[in-house]
Amino acid sequence: MTYLKRDSADLPLPVRIGLIGSGWMGAFHAESIARRVPGAELSAIADPNVESAAALASVLGTGKVTADAADILADPEIDAVIIASPARFHSTLIAQAAAAGKHVFCEKPAGLGLDELDNSLSAVEAAGVHFQIGFNRRYAEDFQAAKKDLAAGTVGTPQLLRSLTRDPGTGSIPNAARVPAWTVFLETLIHDFDTLNWFNEGAEPVEVYAIADALVEPGLRDQGFLDTAVVTIRYSNGAIAVAEANFSALYGYDIRGEVFGSKGMVQAGRATETAARRYTADGMSADTPRLNVELFRQAYTDELVDFADAVRARRDGRSDDTVPAPVPFSLTPGAADARRALAVALACIESVKRGTPVAVNTVAVNPAAVHGTAVL
Ligand SMILES: NC(=O)c1ccc[n+]([C@@H]2O[C@H](COP(=O)([O-])OP(=O)(O)OC[C@H]3O[C@@H](n4cnc5c(N)ncnc54)[C@H](O)[C@@H]3O)[C@@H](O)[C@H]2O)c1
Repeated sequence: MTYLKRDSADLPLPVRIGLIGSGWMGAFHAESIARRVPGAELSAIADPNVESAAALASVLGTGKVTADAADILADPEIDAVIIASPARFHSTLIAQAAAAGKHVFCEKPAGLGLDELDNSLSAVEAAGVHFQIGFNRRYAEDFQAAKKDLAAGTVGTPQLLRSLTRDPGTGSIPNAARVPAWTVFLETLIHDFDTLNWFNEGAEPVEVYAIADALVEPGLRDQGFLDTAVVTIRYSNGAIAVAEANFSALYGYDIRGEVFGSKGMVQAGRATETAARRYTADGMSADTPRLNVELFRQAYTDELVDFADAVRARRDGRSDDTVPAPVPFSLTPGAADARRALAVALACIESVKRGTPVAVNTVAVNPAAVHGTAVL
């Protein structure tokens, strides 16, 4: 990790973390906590699918397994939770965890509506716990290098921004009928919205225009399934951004970001799995990244290193000189970032429904609960 490296020697009491939701993403976070995050301990796993939770716990040596997240929240030995359940439970779980005094790392999105999110973020504020959302791209080395340039003014004033997500696929989506409505905005492009907001820091997303369709699975178009989308976002500083997504890139997992400004351009995104190139009689080729947990293995780990460090600092009341040196740009995605990205996603949904550009609601019900949210 580039900026958050810390000495694992002389670590105090481990940060004790409970996992809520042990599916695809939760299992990877669990493994990161158990094996790759210094000074953190995976103390418990909660999942209504208790067999899958127990299987994971046995691999990772986790002592406590429960079907009910309330058991984790009631455990005084647990400092913090990672919420990786399906998105529809997130805002309720955030509020419950905060009320129980647990620090919260929540996978995106933090909620499915602004009212429910504002309520849960108010609970976070009232409890004074640390809140972090899983916008992992901020922890990828190339995205951090781009952000460092942007923060230093190297590319000048942003004018055009671009972010894209192409999920790996086979040309069809086996479970498409079970994918929740509007996932392309609420769970996929929300990463791109945060990247764009982060790259264009200081400006607010003002208006979006979204076009979306079922191009991979056209047979599900009539049921409202969407697997492809393009969004334009206008920012308060005049910059114009484009975000796009597709659920089935045959060549792998393709994530890119770009900012074009008054002094130049910066790009992030790794086209090849390694720096190796293969040259044969047919020409040159290279392997491409295939899975999110491969492309973002380091970023997923580092976001949890950051989280564990923040929890430890709060829990132990450590002074600033004992926590890792800050990076030369804003990094940790918190409440305001969760809300801002969700506001863009919800405006996209409205834009698709209406077929027109839609204003982004960046005004929080309780602005104090989401530090940094500008009131336009
Ligand atoms: N940051 C990323 O790149 C990334 C990648 C994939 C998924 N995600 C996010 O992670 C979250 C989970 O996605 P996933 O792909 O792991 O889904 P999944 O379906 O694989 O896993 C969800 C798990 O949550 C469990 N669950 C259901 N209800 C629960 C409840 N009330 N309390 C606790 N657990 C419950 C399910 O039994 C299942 O094991 C989603 O919000 C998704 O958007 C993030």
